[in-house]
Amino acid sequence: MKKFNIFATDIIQGPLYERLKKDGHKLTVWNRKENGPLTSEKMIENANDSEVIISMLSNTIDAYILAQLPKLKLITQYAVGFNNIDIKYAHSKEIIICNTPNVLTEATAELAMVLMLAVARNLEAARKNVLNNEWETWEPSGFIGNSLFKKKHGIIGAGRIGTQLAKMCKGAFDQEIYYTGPNRKDEIESSCDAKYLSLEELAQECDIISIHCPYNEETHKLIDKEIFALFKNNIILINTARGEIIDEEELFSFFEKHKEAKAGLDVVCNEPLKADSPLRKLDNVFILPHIGSANDEARLNMAQLIYDNISAFSKDEELKTRV
Ligand code: DGY
Repeated sequence: MKKFNIFATDIIQGPLYERLKKDGHKLTVWNRKENGPLTSEKMIENANDSEVIISMLSNTIDAYILAQLPKLKLITQYAVGFNNIDIKYAHSKEIIICNTPNVLTEATAELAMVLMLAVARNLEAARKNVLNNEWETWEPSGFIGNSLFKKKHGIIGAGRIGTQLAKMCKGAFDQEIYYTGPNRKDEIESSCDAKYLSLEELAQECDIISIHCPYNEETHKLIDKEIFALFKNNIILINTARGEIIDEEELFSFFEKHKEAKAGLDVVCNEPLKADSPLRKLDNVFILPHIGSANDEARLNMAQLIYDNISAFSKDEELKTRV
């Protein structure tokens, strides 16, 4: 079994780091709370001697960084999405990338459901009412939300998470499921009786649209001005994938104009959301700080996958989740 110098770009709760040390690896962990954000220069300095990096989705690992880490052989990303890594360049340098698929499917679908429910039932405004001590009486016409039963739900990207959400929405709310993506998918069709539509048809047809595709060159600003123009004026739009899939200026214009419409976003462009982001001004846009996979089981299983991949790599065995 080979022993590696491992650089981890943040603290991960649970036994992962202790187990790696016990296996004889040398581990350096960036303590963000004490040392501040990890800059490119600090990453290069800290990972200079490392064969393995454990990375977070918030770390940009571009060609500039990769070119300066000559010993690097493996990046294990603590997330399913890996658009923060220049994968083409990494592969050209024979650096292997692993991610954490499957184990966070339910957690992320669960959060998409939370967002859908929260915006449909005006949870933020209702909670503020209580916290601000403004609850005067039972409101016959206050906080009136939208029913979710039997609504038309469009899934953009019927992969693991999109399909899981579709099953949950079919089961819980008897929703009619539609989906779009580059290819037709058997599982969502057979489990949810889902209908395949073009993006334009889906945008026109659905009451709820939820985004689950990976972020890449093809999906950059997939939801643009033309697509927003097709949405119903009272659309519920959910995004737990990546902010950059939506043109954020168009998102602002649409939700500023259509107060009946609601967005539930776990992701935005340029996280964390800037203090002066105009999105903060909109009551119909509900934003969470990218917590899709943040439940106890998912995070433990993600750490286990990282451990399994590093262990396999140290024994020259096949990696579980190579991308
Ligand atoms: C990931 O892991 O890429 C997702 O953004 C989970 O929220």
